[in-house]
Amino acid sequence: MSVTRTPAKHFAPLAIGAPEPYRVLPVRIERMIHFIPPHNEKIRAKLKDTIKQVDVVLGNLEDAIAVGEKEQARAGFVSMANEFDFGQTGLWTRINCLNSPWMLEDVTQIVEHAGNKVDVIMLPKVEGPWDIHYLDQLLAQLEAKHKVARPILIHAILETAEGVKNVEAIAAASPRMHGMSLGPADLAASRGMKTTRVGGGHPDYGVLADPAADGGPRAHYQQDLWHYTVGKMVDACLSYGLKPFYGPFGDFADSAACEAQFRNAFLQGCLGAWSLHPSQIEIAKRVFSPDPKEVAFARRILEAMPDGTGAVMIDGKMQDDATWKQAKVIVDLARLVASKDPERAAAYGF
Ligand code: GLV
Ligand code: MG
Repeated sequence: MSVTRTPAKHFAPLAIGAPEPYRVLPVRIERMIHFIPPHNEKIRAKLKDTIKQVDVVLGNLEDAIAVGEKEQARAGFVSMANEFDFGQTGLWTRINCLNSPWMLEDVTQIVEHAGNKVDVIMLPKVEGPWDIHYLDQLLAQLEAKHKVARPILIHAILETAEGVKNVEAIAAASPRMHGMSLGPADLAASRGMKTTRVGGGHPDYGVLADPAADGGPRAHYQQDLWHYTVGKMVDACLSYGLKPFYGPFGDFADSAACEAQFRNAFLQGCLGAWSLHPSQIEIAKRVFSPDPKEVAFARRILEAMPDGTGAVMIDGKMQDDATWKQAKVIVDLARLVASKDPERAAAYGF
């Protein structure tokens, strides 16, 4: 039996004095979620420029931050949140997971000292809706206490077998849900997949071509290890109006493979990916901004069918109400990109 609140209660604040939940997510361009260790002075010194280059800055408090540096990372995040003006660039943090000794203070400190600056809290290792309900209630109490004006959103990392099993219930858990990222490293471990890579393909995961008549060598076509999970995540997210993202790509030297992985995710419906290294910022911009040629063709479809109905031929290709909707996805995204990226606005002819 599934137990859900009535629609009216679903949208009621969970604490007296907390802000009203969003009914529609704020529209923002989020092609890359750029991870930084918030206690690193060198990286902080460059932050003013980084904010201009990226769509989202994320202060990471979880994995990759050593046990002895957890408090400094949290304090570093609070001070950078207050020190900088982020303008149109999103400010996110990845807190520690729910069963860790740091999670509670991550949330209480950040909402108290930076609650009006943070857009999104990324929650790792989400297993089911109960994890979202807990953080949802806690955030509402803290927002009320500290007079936070806008609801802080939750972004779940999909990185356990149980989380993938429960992905739809996670998406449906709260109007505070922003979206989800695939976490291929933890997910590989949780599922017992036999790879030490952080995202990307694996040379042994593929399909062998049939034997050739001449007995010659058989081609082996490498496949996308993450196809199933990305597809499942995209359907869960889009059916609840949330945003799906591919997560990290760990081999910084292999930019071509990173680009290929990001592109598969983009074509399947994802809106962005994580950048863990500055070189991945441009890759994400290239991949998650629609191609100007596609945008030009999509605009022709919209212009040929002003009310979105009927059937026309363009360059020998059939267009109808459904392709009009496909074209609109691309043109809407291009307009959003153009609002933040003057170079691409020019390439799109907006
Ligand atoms: C990200 O957190 C991952 O585990 O891949
Ligand atoms: Mg992880």
